[in-house]
Amino acid sequence: MTEAQANIGVVGLAAMGASLSRNLARHGNTVAVYNRHYSRTETLIGEHGDEGKFVPAKTLQEFVGSLTRPRTAIIMVKAGEPTDQMIDDLADLMEPGDIIVDAGNAYFKDTIRREKAIRARGLHFVGCGVSGGEEGALLGPSMMPGGTDESWQTLGPILKTIAAQAEGEPCVTHIGSDGAGHFVKMVHNGIEYSDMQVIAESYDLMRRGLGMEPGQIADVFDEWNQGDLNSYLVQITAEVLHHIDAATGKPFIDIVTDQAGMKGTGTWTVQTALDLAVPVTGIGEAVFARGLSSSPELRKEAEQKGLSGPEPQAILSDLAADPDQRKAFIEDVRQALYASKIVAYAQGFNEMQEGADVYGWKLDMGAIARIWRGGCIIRAKFLNRISDAYASGDEFGSLLFDPFFKKAVEDAQDAWRRVVVRATQAGIPIPVFASSLSYYDGLRSKRLPAALIQGQRDLFGAHTYGRVDQPGVFHTLWAGDKSEIRQD
Ligand code: 6PG
Repeated sequence: MTEAQANIGVVGLAAMGASLSRNLARHGNTVAVYNRHYSRTETLIGEHGDEGKFVPAKTLQEFVGSLTRPRTAIIMVKAGEPTDQMIDDLADLMEPGDIIVDAGNAYFKDTIRREKAIRARGLHFVGCGVSGGEEGALLGPSMMPGGTDESWQTLGPILKTIAAQAEGEPCVTHIGSDGAGHFVKMVHNGIEYSDMQVIAESYDLMRRGLGMEPGQIADVFDEWNQGDLNSYLVQITAEVLHHIDAATGKPFIDIVTDQAGMKGTGTWTVQTALDLAVPVTGIGEAVFARGLSSSPELRKEAEQKGLSGPEPQAILSDLAADPDQRKAFIEDVRQALYASKIVAYAQGFNEMQEGADVYGWKLDMGAIARIWRGGCIIRAKFLNRISDAYASGDEFGSLLFDPFFKKAVEDAQDAWRRVVVRATQAGIPIPVFASSLSYYDGLRSKRLPAALIQGQRDLFGAHTYGRVDQPGVFHTLWAGDKSEIRQD
């Protein structure tokens, strides 16, 4: 019989699992570790066994036996079928009150399903979003656990030992029941997509619009990182742009294929938003922009067919040649980036609010903003402002109504509009800049052309409409004498 001595266990010791185990061991936990192929466990212990207390197990039985009660096991295996299989195998060996944690990027509806099945067996199932990549897992990620309050009693103190710290607070909080943690991590990733795309659009404007070299653009991002835009993504953007490819001596950015990959979390964010009828236009356009980039045949055909349009540098050459105008344009781009980023967060937080209402979670938006300040991919100084907005206790339907963000967007909007106009004239695609601005204008429009759509719908399909001057549901007899009838 194995002696129960480990307060936490990790199953699956690929990059993320191994890093998480080491982080746990380095912070005073006794960590049971198990991998389907024992060689990986041996490698971990051989290379890092001296970093803390590990209990390596050759079998899953041994692994479960080495855990103290309530037994708590974090699964870090491949998403989908392998995760389901491992949950089942663990549940067979565990006892009521024990806790299974899925720390992969699972789809929140799968987490809701799994939690229900595991709860029926008397165990706890926690879907936990983990952000920060391999380095974050080792040095301190941001973590978004769902599951029961009871499981959080055990898990919370353990996760707090390994989470990133932001202004003295651990970047982990109990998000809510069942799939809430994975839902919030999904929206985090959606915002990540949008944030990356607006940075890419800014790069494109400077590169193709102003004809700047990658190194010069990197310097601009370095400078932006000192101000309102201070963030991990802006910082790594500068690093990528400074990098020179060793094989060719060319800027690294120029030797990378321009087809952005994705593993699906951004797509889930948009699909879910469509189900919830929440417009997340910035995130949506970011996903579609990756899709267009990754359609090489279509793009090739467009080139062959000679789809015509302006040449960016020809249109912007006067501006690029004049140092003052050039500087002013770069500042405009910075402001467009800031405003579009605010819109992306506002939309993401709207999606979380709607998701909370529909799925029965009580999400603490301020706490979510706080745990995103450190460890995760979208960590940014800016998140302090979001956290302040929610801490103010004011009720608002959109972050854009919070006084700080309202003023920030108002201050940036002239520049933002100039950038959208110039980019459009120059033929540089700016899907997130433009759609975010349209969203902002849509939101502030007293009257939208939706009235016309209602008229069209009523004409062709008798779908009815409301009137501005009285309550009720109405239909016009379009094919007859065009008189109006009340239908409610
Ligand atoms: C994180 C990241 C991480 C990963 C995403 C995005 O928070 O640590 O979001 O989860 O980078 O899966 O990956 P794709 O860009 O491949 O979709």
